[in-house]
Amino acid sequence: MKSVWTETWELPCFERLQNDINVDVLVIGGGMAGILCGYMLEKSGIHYALVEKNRICSGITKNTTAKILTDMVMGRETPYASVFSPSRSIIHPQLAVNTFEAIGNLLTLSGKRCPHMGCALKWNPQENSWDCPCHGSRFTSHGELIDNPASGDLKK
Ligand SMILES: Cc1cc2nc3c(=O)[nH]c(=O)nc-3n(C[C@H](O)[C@H](O)[C@H](O)COP(=O)(O)OP(=O)(O)OC[C@H]3O[C@@H](n4cnc5c(N)ncnc54)[C@H](O)[C@@H]3O)c2cc1C
Ligand code: FES
Repeated sequence: MKSVWTETWELPCFERLQNDINVDVLVIGGGMAGILCGYMLEKSGIHYALVEKNRICSGITKNTTAKILTDMVMGRETPYASVFSPSRSIIHPQLAVNTFEAIGNLLTLSGKRCPHMGCALKWNPQENSWDCPCHGSRFTSHGELIDNPASGDLKK
């Protein structure tokens, strides 16, 4: 499973920190929490730096549906507003498919489990990867981590 946001959004890329720097506050992690901290620090005129080990918004933040709300508040067109609308009809053929899949996942005794929070992984034949339906972690066929929020490979 891929995140619609990482597939469709251009996220900014920043240069690697090369030298020591002096700041009053160091924010570690460029997810929603870190970026909001940075925003508040900036507004308060506090000298800070934000460091991210991967790419900005590449953690769990890449999955949040709040981006639709942001688009709506900013008056931007978003094709996902109707798909995820809280007032959409939930009576949909996909609902039955999802229900069966969820029950099947829960009843799966063995199989590969995601090291993040233990969800059952699904084999993705198109990408040749093990994908986690819960928060989007992905692993190669050999169990090496491709995408977070999991932070390590699958256990052998
Ligand atoms: C499918 C889904 C939908 C969601 N929808 C919503 C929603 O609509 N509204 C809502 O409010 N919430 C939603 N959430 C929850 C929300 O997305 C998360 O709670 C939030 O994004 C977490 O943000 P965070 O900054 O704490 O973590 P993350 O986004 O995971 O950020 C942590 C960052 O820290 C970095 N990092 C970790 N260790 C280090 C280190 N040692 N050095 C440097 N960097 C490091 C990671 O690479 C990562 O980028 C959703 C979650 C999911 C999975
Ligand atoms: S359980 Fe969270 S990514 Fe798999």
